[in-house]
Amino acid sequence: MQKNIYKIVHFNIIGDELGSLIALENMHQVPFEVKRVYYIFDTKSRVRRGMHAHRDLEQLCFCVKGSCTFVLDDGTKKDIIKLDSPNTGLYIKNLIWREMFDFSKDCVLVVLANKYYDPSDYIRDYKEFKRLADSVKQAG
Ligand code: TYD
Repeated sequence: MQKNIYKIVHFNIIGDELGSLIALENMHQVPFEVKRVYYIFDTKSRVRRGMHAHRDLEQLCFCVKGSCTFVLDDGTKKDIIKLDSPNTGLYIKNLIWREMFDFSKDCVLVVLANKYYDPSDYIRDYKEFKRLADSVKQAG
């Protein structure tokens, strides 16, 4: 797996007698300026989502409730990451094929992104992704 394409980040939980709170700020816990937030919930059982890569997008994903599992593929190697705590984030950068599965019934997966939604940034064909990932590796 190429370095810095993804990383796991742990958020500080501010706990007191009232309960728990996590605060995320641009350029602090979130390593970019957030332009978009979306969340995935009520996912049906045995659903697989994702199945794409992005050309130029940074994202920070975390489950505020429940859990789900990511497969991250850089074209050469696959890593499996389970997100099952509101204080664990997964930062993902360009050219990484992602699939999400094993959503718990109560899963609320929040994604912060550094760009507005742009369908042309998606690579939905695995062969095209593999070609691009290989050419970037050769160039670098
Ligand atoms: P998609 O990114 O394909 O979902 P996933 O990869 O999680 O399965 O998006 C599903 C639909 O939602 C698709 O029609 C595009 C739309 N969408 C937006 O309109 N804005 C967004 O920010 C995102 C992420 C998706």
